[in-house]
Amino acid sequence: MIAAFPGWARKFLLSRSRLNALAGLCVLLFVVSGLYLYSFREPAAPLDYDFRLHSAPVHPIDHLINAANEQWRILLGQETHSLPNAAVQYRRSRGRHPPPGFAEWYAFAKEKDALIIEELFDQIYHDLSPYWGTEPEELRRQASGFEPRIIVRNQKVLPMGGTPAGWMEAWLGLLRTLEQYLPDFDMPLNGMDEPRVIVPWEDLSEHVAKDYSARRIVDPGQVVSEYMALPDPAVDEPEPYDLKFTNGDGKPYWYLARVACPPDSPSRNSDIVNVDFANPPPELYNYIPLSQDGYIKNWTLAKDPCIRPELQALHGSFVAPTSISTTHQLFPLFGGSKLPINNGILIPPAVYWGDDELFTGGGDHGGEWEDKQDVFFWRGLASGGRNTEETWTRFQRHRFMSTLNATSVATALNSSEHAFVSFRLPDFEYYNLESGRSGELSILLADHADARPTGLACSPVTGNPHCPYTDPFFEITPMVPMQSNYENKYLPDIDGNSFSGRYRAFLLSTSLPIKSTVYNEWHDSRLIPWAHFIPMDTTFMDFYGIMDYLLSNDITAKAVALNGKRWAETVLRKEDMEVYMYRLLLEYARICDDRREFLGYVDDLR
Ligand SMILES: *[C@@H]1O[C@H](CO)[C@@H](O)[C@H](O)[C@H]1NC(C)=O
Ligand SMILES: *[C@@H]1O[C@H](CO)[C@@H](O)[C@H](O)[C@H]1NC(C)=O
Ligand SMILES: *[C@@H]1O[C@H](CO)[C@@H](O)[C@H](O)[C@H]1NC(C)=O
Repeated sequence: MIAAFPGWARKFLLSRSRLNALAGLCVLLFVVSGLYLYSFREPAAPLDYDFRLHSAPVHPIDHLINAANEQWRILLGQETHSLPNAAVQYRRSRGRHPPPGFAEWYAFAKEKDALIIEELFDQIYHDLSPYWGTEPEELRRQASGFEPRIIVRNQKVLPMGGTPAGWMEAWLGLLRTLEQYLPDFDMPLNGMDEPRVIVPWEDLSEHVAKDYSARRIVDPGQVVSEYMALPDPAVDEPEPYDLKFTNGDGKPYWYLARVACPPDSPSRNSDIVNVDFANPPPELYNYIPLSQDGYIKNWTLAKDPCIRPELQALHGSFVAPTSISTTHQLFPLFGGSKLPINNGILIPPAVYWGDDELFTGGGDHGGEWEDKQDVFFWRGLASGGRNTEETWTRFQRHRFMSTLNATSVATALNSSEHAFVSFRLPDFEYYNLESGRSGELSILLADHADARPTGLACSPVTGNPHCPYTDPFFEITPMVPMQSNYENKYLPDIDGNSFSGRYRAFLLSTSLPIKSTVYNEWHDSRLIPWAHFIPMDTTFMDFYGIMDYLLSNDITAKAVALNGKRWAETVLRKEDMEVYMYRLLLEYARICDDRREFLGYVDDLR
């Protein structure tokens, strides 16, 4: 050992008294550096996340993961640890006093070990903003005239009407955990898969402007801390409120939807395009300017149908939803998901709160990463809306299964058109895909992709999983239990009739979700694409690039999978749904209150 030191050091080290001095110095250094490190310690991160940064990024996805991890690190630094700080953060972000009941909410959140970062609640304020533009009396009138709904009176939760599929029971269960804290309100529920409120852009802008102009920090002396009590509906039965729901007279949903887009956006005036469903989809390069080298850079923009008119022909929700029942009036409808063009108020979907193993997988979240197959695995119903012989080629689940089908890809690679009826191959040069250039893509897919339908859900309904016009393209396979998904490293998740109910379980698993969606959910301000999951464009043009990257960057793939899991265990727990719902309902009750401008929490200022 000592031989490795230069001569002068050797002499120094070999003298005994100097050895003692050296030992003393070492102890001192150790203590001092320990104190130094302690005083400069980062605020404790909630868990041991792996902020893997690629020091010399090579692939565009390296850059995206670096940027996402940095964004996440900054977010974690915003955590607040006291009620006064939480109130300060609130006023700074929202421009108002917190709602009455904020201190109890904070105590509840603490008791549930919730991470308190104001940004995690941004979705609430995005959803509620336009309702500040409706008079409170009008809001209460709308809400009390709708079924199904949940009402709260005297801190008791009651159902009014029901929903299919047990959603009402799940949401009631969630609200019952909070009822002792809740003011009176009426909460209309969407029992359909599809969202139902689309407010024309001009009208919505006026509503949102009213929110902004009404924001102020009221003088604490004027602040009121009691919510109003609402009448007992059994005594004072409300009239139904006519929201003029329409199915669009059988015309494409796009006509109902596009009125929500800004007048100068590409979609507002674009007519119905790309409806030649018998041929391969058109060139799908609109997404490129929005992307970073072909990969999703901004998840919000990537999902926005107003700047992406091509989405109308790439997703069942636009091509032919299972049911259409839309109102153009702003109205406080609560539901589990919505398109960016929809209004309404997001709450945790009933399937996330419920215990159906089909969606949760029970207590099993998968084994060790190293024991999993290097496979992109997908099973599910070919849902997405009413697919017919003429339209199925544009449904997202069908398109996705074809994109991963080695035989279909071999055929497409072989054809001079580079096309297959339900999908289009990307530009291999642009994506720098060697497997594409060499023609070996289909071999790669045969080894690493497995996407099959459990039923073809065609229209007209066949009464069995088969379908005369799609049978030749897909091999029907029995449904597998949720746990079988976790035997694979990569779990693509594709929208069905609306959002996909498996997503939360995928995030909580030891596998890595590859997420494609055009829907928004309650958790959107809690998840950072590329840090907690891999985002995929609805065109699926980036799929082969993502596959190629993940297969050759296993350590990074594992880090994102496990970071996503630990983060979901920190901010997507059932307790987090309670904390979110509690905050949301205080805000909603305030907006419905005649004295809403003056209602607030100001105890910290007195
Ligand atoms: C995404 O784009 C929107 C709209 O331009 C912008 O407001 C938002 O800050 C962007 N998000 C990120 C993460 O860059
Ligand atoms: C590709 O084309 C060649 C020549 O036309 C043909 O022999 C072969 O069977 C084709 N392969 C596939 C997978 O279609
Ligand atoms: C892949 O596509 C071919 C037709 O192109 C079809 O026969 C086969 O069943 C498909 N495989 C799966 C797993 O769906």
